[in-house]
Amino acid sequence: MLAGLGGWLPPRIVDNDELSGHLDTSDEWIRTRTGIGQRHVIDPGMSTVDMAVEAGRRALHSAGSRDVDALVLATATPDQICPASAPQVASRLGLGHIAAFDVNAVCSGFVYALATAAGLISAGAARSVLMIGADAFTTLLNPKDRGTVPIFGDGAGAVVLRAGEPDELGAIGPFDLHSDGDLAELLIVPAGGAKQKTSDNPQDHYFSMQGPAVFRHATARMAESSRTVMERVGWTVSDVDRFIGHQANIRILHATAKQLGLPADSLVVNIERTGNTSAASIPLAMVDGVNDGTLQAGDRVLVSAFGAGLTWGATALRWPDLTPG
Ligand code: ACO
Repeated sequence: MLAGLGGWLPPRIVDNDELSGHLDTSDEWIRTRTGIGQRHVIDPGMSTVDMAVEAGRRALHSAGSRDVDALVLATATPDQICPASAPQVASRLGLGHIAAFDVNAVCSGFVYALATAAGLISAGAARSVLMIGADAFTTLLNPKDRGTVPIFGDGAGAVVLRAGEPDELGAIGPFDLHSDGDLAELLIVPAGGAKQKTSDNPQDHYFSMQGPAVFRHATARMAESSRTVMERVGWTVSDVDRFIGHQANIRILHATAKQLGLPADSLVVNIERTGNTSAASIPLAMVDGVNDGTLQAGDRVLVSAFGAGLTWGATALRWPDLTPG
């Protein structure tokens, strides 16, 4: 069950007007097409591990206990290709020699890592898990690409899970997870990995995205996965109090809600101030939802994400009574 929550955004804010100073775009275009007004961006020298440590510390504080025996870090932007970043986060948090590893499902990372953390608990491998979603996605972007720079921001969000009873507030699940590697090219950084270490074409080292195709898949897949979870948990649309989708584009969230038959005011949305923070987007939306009163203890909450891979998935929970750290 969900027992702690925290988030952290780097202090530097880049608004749409600042971007329009050096990119062929405008505040009006970005707001209308994406719903984004600003994003937080790390300064040189700061990293995914730094952000994960800040969010993790806040989630542990929210849980009221530092007694966790595993750390799962969802990220597509680890500090190094090898090793994973989670052990460094665990050490920096002073958590000792606990199990620590990364999960890379890009923007679906939070839902995938949540399932992994819940699985560690149900398998008896851990009693309590710190799960962090952290991404410095701006480090993957070609600064001259108006198709991606306005969309992404940096940040980290974290939750603490502990063993509990299925009928308790905070109980999570079931999960529905999927992938389609045939469509990997839709969202990809072609070079830098084992297949092509370096490329003479600098663009190959940057993230490229086929936006309109991604838009269609994101909407259809998040709706499909959400429906599957609702069926498994026995909810109808009218049972859902809140829908927390991956914050990729306000139009994707509205289109997904429409496909599901959910009212627009059931959406938990914070994309205006964060942009798309990849694996951090859902826990950061949760923090803002609790702080502004959108999320209340007892709410039936549907959670769904979609990302590069392709990957997508959904889960459900009864919102617990907690205060973000
Ligand atoms: N400013 C001004 N104009 C722009 C910009 C910009 N920043 N970007 C594109 N345009 C122009 C295009 O050149 C095009 O012009 P044209 O009609 O003269 O050819 C026009 O705007 C429309 O372009 P589209 O790409 O069709 O615009 P669309 O409405 O699809 O919006 C967007 C683009 C915002 C990228 C949208 O497709 C989208 O959000 N897609 C999903 C992206 C996403 O969710 N990515 C994250 C996935 S999660 C992960 O794992 C990373």
